[in-house]
Amino acid sequence: MALAAENLRADYGEGSPVLEGVDLALEPGRFLALAGPNGAGKSTLLRCLAGLHLPQAGRVLLDGRPLAAIPPRRRARILGYLPQEVGPAFPFTVAEAVALGARVAGHGRWFETRPGRECREAVRRALEQVDALDLEERLLGELSGGERRRVLVASVLAQEPRYLLLDEPAAMLDLHHQAWLFSLFRRFCREGLAVLCVTHDLNLAATFADEILILDRHILRARGAPAEVLREELLHEVFGERLELLPRPGRAPAVLPR
Ligand SMILES: Nc1ncnc2c1ncn2[C@@H]1O[C@H](COP(=O)(O)OP(=O)(O)OP(=O)(O)O)[C@@H](O)[C@H]1O
Ligand SMILES: [Mg+2]
Repeated sequence: MALAAENLRADYGEGSPVLEGVDLALEPGRFLALAGPNGAGKSTLLRCLAGLHLPQAGRVLLDGRPLAAIPPRRRARILGYLPQEVGPAFPFTVAEAVALGARVAGHGRWFETRPGRECREAVRRALEQVDALDLEERLLGELSGGERRRVLVASVLAQEPRYLLLDEPAAMLDLHHQAWLFSLFRRFCREGLAVLCVTHDLNLAATFADEILILDRHILRARGAPAEVLREELLHEVFGERLELLPRPGRAPAVLPR
């Protein structure tokens, strides 16, 4: 069982590849953090894995089956995807927005005008998980950036999927909620879920993820335990020389701006 990309090549129809020869397997129980410079192709890779961008070559398999062969509702129960950006706010309350996630995956019947008990429970559970239960009755459009981001994460969690693909879920979150969210993902993985999370914060990644993957100019440059990947030579090559590593005994080094 895994969500696997094999030899992926993707572009946007302009000839030059955005992803080239990417192989990746996300297995149950694993927490992978995906990092890399702006424009490296991280969001494109997540869209390919979510079945929302068709690769020019290679394939994506979900538990051994081609992604396209799995009907959408069934796929929504297995795989949850949080985009990097979500369009203008809908005129929904927080509870309604999160209920959409639950109902997309079929928790509670789709055509009910009011969400049933099963759906309401999934909504409350998801909001609690992101520390946003107190926002339940608020309008999505009237939340702060970080509050809205947490609610959007909750709407993906309400699907209760086995694989989570999250594109910068902690962007805009305060430090407390960044750590909250990443430790939540850590816990999910202990319970058997699989998480692939894009982040620019290498320290957050090193603290909570099993492995860090570095995507650089269409290519997966590195994958391994945080202490293996956070090497000065590699980071300087990929991100430039304006960062330095602070060694920490027994742990991955801290990455600081120079
Ligand atoms: N819809 C699109 N049409 C054309 N080109 C695109 C499109 N989306 C992304 N690109 C290009 O593909 C490349 C990879 O973009 P992508 O969004 O995957 O990068 P990223 O690693 O997620 O970057 P960031 O850290 O800024 O989010 C970039 O050069 C970008 O300009
Ligand atoms: Mg991106």
